Amino acid sequence: MINIPFGDLKLHYQAYKSDFDTAVQRVLASGYYILGPELERFEKEFANWLGAEYVVGCASGTEAIYLALAAAGVGPQDEVIVVAHTAVPTISGISMTGATPIFVDIDPKTYVMDVAAIEARITPKTKAIVPVHLYGQMVDMEPLMKLAAKHGIVVMEDCAQSTGAAYGGRKSGTLTEFGAFSFYPSKNLGAFGDGGAVTCKTKENYDKLIKLRNYGSSKRYYHESIGINSRLDEIQAAILACQIPYLHEWNERRRQIAKRYSEGLKDVVVVPQESENRHHVYHLYVIQTDNRDELQNFLLEEKGIQTIIHYPVPAHLQNAYAHLGYKPGNLPNTEYAAKRILSLPMQPELTDSQVDEIIDGIRQYFKTANTSANSVTETNSPVTGVAR
Ligand SMILES: Cc1ncc(COP(=O)(O)O)c(C=O)c1O
Repeated sequence: MINIPFGDLKLHYQAYKSDFDTAVQRVLASGYYILGPELERFEKEFANWLGAEYVVGCASGTEAIYLALAAAGVGPQDEVIVVAHTAVPTISGISMTGATPIFVDIDPKTYVMDVAAIEARITPKTKAIVPVHLYGQMVDMEPLMKLAAKHGIVVMEDCAQSTGAAYGGRKSGTLTEFGAFSFYPSKNLGAFGDGGAVTCKTKENYDKLIKLRNYGSSKRYYHESIGINSRLDEIQAAILACQIPYLHEWNERRRQIAKRYSEGLKDVVVVPQESENRHHVYHLYVIQTDNRDELQNFLLEEKGIQTIIHYPVPAHLQNAYAHLGYKPGNLPNTEYAAKRILSLPMQPELTDSQVDEIIDGIRQYFKTANTSANSVTETNSPVTGVAR
């Protein structure tokens, strides 16, 4: 029996029921369901909250990635540098443009793109770099942006897991030309269905995005470019807008939970590391251990605690991308992490006593299992700051 599920979105609805019910009822009664005032309001309020120039709502995070890259002019002849240690939808969004993903390894301490690995993969075909701010922590953006500027390459941040995360005080999605957000229900800002958004800095790109998401049209029945249907509907826009005032508080609660986990677990597993100058918002709280599968089974079978692996098979080893020719061993830090990582329950509604129960369950595993607590300060990753 599951005692503590990985996430329980009903709790989120129940805690803010009157906000959600009011928002949904208002839209149902309005007669406007697509591209109306709720979307306009959400786009403005989310842009203000982020400190972004423009926000364009769309139907999912995957399509946000596609739309941003398409607006940047990325197409079938191009290469896009990205990590394989991400949700595969990052790569789906790139593939939708026809471009080829070029995979680079991660920094083993933060699990995000190893910026030092990028330059060796730049070719005359490289059109874009997609830093993925995974688990709620941002990529080391300053050197990445310098490198991109030096080579004239567009940068599009994948912010699906980093709503509210910051680098040098600037929120994810506002540092580069484009940012792509997902509002999948479990995200730090989640809809009750699918949703996404693109941030951009210039009116020119904003105009392109507005058309791209709506059949290439900004005036009804007149189509200036080839586009798709990828819109954030009025109900989801209203649901998202009513959560913006709480977002900071929820992210702070995630940080408190992470602190509690780390204090209780740092001597038995590898706990997440927050890099200086980066504000982590813990979309996921991910530990690392040699005995990952056994620990996961123990937690579920003996304690009823559900955990998840984000992600068990890196993109470069997925069947869908076998044609790209990557082999096991090509991205050692990525592959090493994939075998050892485990995400613990994380949502703002988790109580301190539930967090303590999870900590106790993990500690009990290391006490009873015939295993020593392992490599708790270093990741032991095969490539740590040496040649790649
Ligand atoms: C890092 C990352 N990128 C992209 C996506 C795609 O978002 P969506 O599920 O809204 O299409 C997700 C979410 O699944 C994600 O976690």
